[in-house]
Amino acid sequence: MPQSLLIITGHSQGLGRAVLDLFLSKESFQVLAISRTKLELESPRLTQISLDLSELSVLENKLSSLFPEGDFDQIVLLNNAGWIGQVKPIGQLGPKEMREQVNLNLLAPMYLTNAFLANYQSDTTKKIVCNISSGAASRPVEGWGGYCSTKAALAMFTLVAAKEKKSLNTHFYSVAPGIIDTKMQEEIRKSNDADFPDLDKFIDYKEGGKLVSPEEVAKKIAYLILNPEKFTEVIQDVRNFELT
Ligand SMILES: NC(=O)c1ccc[n+]([C@@H]2O[C@H](COP(=O)([O-])OP(=O)(O)OC[C@H]3O[C@@H](n4cnc5c(N)ncnc54)[C@H](OP(=O)(O)O)[C@@H]3O)[C@@H](O)[C@H]2O)c1
Repeated sequence: MPQSLLIITGHSQGLGRAVLDLFLSKESFQVLAISRTKLELESPRLTQISLDLSELSVLENKLSSLFPEGDFDQIVLLNNAGWIGQVKPIGQLGPKEMREQVNLNLLAPMYLTNAFLANYQSDTTKKIVCNISSGAASRPVEGWGGYCSTKAALAMFTLVAAKEKKSLNTHFYSVAPGIIDTKMQEEIRKSNDADFPDLDKFIDYKEGGKLVSPEEVAKKIAYLILNPEKFTEVIQDVRNFELT
């Protein structure tokens, strides 16, 4: 059976975990998964790497040995790891937290995308780079200065990569995944309304059953990855997907 490779960040919980489980159920996929936490999960098709992606010097040193070699028909990079950051107005943000957030949400996916393209140059291999974005990439949200900015910048980086692309066999996406019932939403609900005026709205999403499950979003991300010919635009939102 032809082998495909998925490289995913932030696989230990939330959306990343649901995507991991979905791709491990596909025999044709090998998975390289990167988070700080390693899961107690054994599979001959899974390699886990424990890495803090906000520590850029460590990531930089690992880049030359990170990407598996092999005769893959398809290679996917899914930059999913992300952090909402401190939910506070600009003027009250900590420099260390800002640096960690920019490193994790923006620079780590930029490093990985750049190294992925340098490493996998064969035109005959289908390559997909999917950067997980947010609705917050295209609208300002009070209290989310770092989050909105990093997601907007990553979307622009993805657009530039797509414009530069040298092969019809390479696809780039910046995908908003909708509002998902994960730890990130728990963290958002722990903020206070002085720092985050939308707090009641986010509590209502949870209490009103309006959050989508990570599994449901994972199915849509997988659909995009497996059917890139159906998705011509770089900027995508899973809420507009129809699985056919
Ligand atoms: N949940 C939502 O409503 C929502 C909405 C829009 C966009 N998104 C985006 O969707 C993606 C997934 O979010 P989620 O809701 O699934 O978040 P989550 O439940 O908080 O999971 C985040 C994942 O990122 C990893 N991660 C965090 N910091 C890391 C670090 N320093 N180094 C390496 N890995 C790190 C975590 O693993 P470790 O802790 O083990 O490192 C975890 O696996 C994010 O990019 C987020 O911005 C989420």
